[in-house]
Amino acid sequence: MESATGWSTQSFRRHGALVLEALARFVEESARGEGGVACLEPVDRLVKAMDLDRLIGEGMASDYQFETFLQSFLEGATRLHHPGYLAHQIALPHYAAALGDLISGILNNGMSVYEMGPTAGAIEVAVIDWLLAKVGWEPTGRNSEEAPAPGRIPGGGVLTHGGSLANLTALLAARATLAPEVWKTGVGGDLVVVAPAAAHYSLARSVATMGLGTDSLVEAPSDRLGRLIPEELAGAFQAVRDSGKRVMAVCANACSTAAGLYDPLQEVGAFCREQDIWLHVDGAHGASALLHQEESRRLAGVALADSLTWDAHKLLQTSALCAAVLFRDGKRLLGTFQQNAAYVTEGTREIGHDFIGHQFECTKSPLGLKLFLVLAMVGEEGLASNVGVLWENTRKIHDQIAARPGFEVLCPPESNILCFRYAGDDAAQTRIRQRLMREGDFLLTQADVDDRRWLRMTVMNPLTDSSTVRRLLDRIEEVVGD
Ligand SMILES: Cc1ncc(COP(=O)(O)O)c(C=O)c1O
Repeated sequence: MESATGWSTQSFRRHGALVLEALARFVEESARGEGGVACLEPVDRLVKAMDLDRLIGEGMASDYQFETFLQSFLEGATRLHHPGYLAHQIALPHYAAALGDLISGILNNGMSVYEMGPTAGAIEVAVIDWLLAKVGWEPTGRNSEEAPAPGRIPGGGVLTHGGSLANLTALLAARATLAPEVWKTGVGGDLVVVAPAAAHYSLARSVATMGLGTDSLVEAPSDRLGRLIPEELAGAFQAVRDSGKRVMAVCANACSTAAGLYDPLQEVGAFCREQDIWLHVDGAHGASALLHQEESRRLAGVALADSLTWDAHKLLQTSALCAAVLFRDGKRLLGTFQQNAAYVTEGTREIGHDFIGHQFECTKSPLGLKLFLVLAMVGEEGLASNVGVLWENTRKIHDQIAARPGFEVLCPPESNILCFRYAGDDAAQTRIRQRLMREGDFLLTQADVDDRRWLRMTVMNPLTDSSTVRRLLDRIEEVVGD
């Protein structure tokens, strides 16, 4: 029955059932390798295929129209569940996360202020505490009145709409620690961030957004694969000081976006602690390896950092968006955004967690709910095992490609990211990728590392196996031979 709120619970049930059935079919077909991985039709053709102009103008009057639209939308959608999906770093999500999205979409508890969604707020705190524990940091304290145990520094963190925003938040916290006056007076031009050239572009974007200018992003000494060289950090620091500037933060990768390699966090961390310099670790992609006993060795020393970015929507089987920025010392987050809008925070501070003072977003989706549901249904062991399988499969794929004449691999993988190339120059690699993309059976990305262009795969799907890779390599040979 249609109510005054515009809600028909009957239509909701009917349409909901159609959606669930269509999605279940979509996932089954994709997992069998049916349908194109991605459809790269031009926008105008897709607008026509989905009949968008007519539906916008005339509306969707029947269930049949709804179902037809849904079908055409899914036909053109990118299939992450397809074994040939080897491209961008976004999770093949567990359905529990999607159910979280559904619940959030109906409730719309924009939970930045506790009263706007107390259950979602409590979940965010619990999830942050779980992530903190995996890093080896203390929990937040959950707004408890009890003083922390002697010698223990409560950790902190917030969930954010993506790793880019998490990186920006970490750098803002670093700046608020070193130069809190900047919030009011503006930047003075003497602050510098040291990061390897292999850092994700969101760091340069953050630095520019903060008004520091990209010139203030100083390249950390790195090897040819983009890994930071800790022994050379002291020289880089001295050069910054000689130029009359101050290092606001060092950023390290765990792992890098292009090659999927980890910086030596133990050594970098020890150096930063000794110098009393903020260390931010960008673990948007690779921090999830912390869950896996063996693979976590690449992150040894991460607890020496001051802040860590960790995306759940990359390797924690959670739908986008869901990222976290975590702090070893939770107090560091307090001065990051030095504002107090009384109309949203007054009166609720004491009751629970008002996230609004500690995050960039005003309204925020209940991001923790979907991660929590995945965690509760898959379990920590399930998540760890997913990481282990993807890492192991990527090592096997590396060996398979390395053994194939005509193909070259960049280096043994340290995560589920792998760069390789086929005979020919850089332009040939781009042509291969574009041709495969047009054909639709495989989706790869590309990356420039060590001054050369590579085909790049991110193995996000446990169904991607040696037979998928054999078909891919066969097709690359055929494409180049055409
Ligand atoms: C290392 C690293 N940092 C940050 C990001 C940005 O994360 P998001 O896409 O969630 O904004 C990415 C995305 O690929 C990444 O690989």
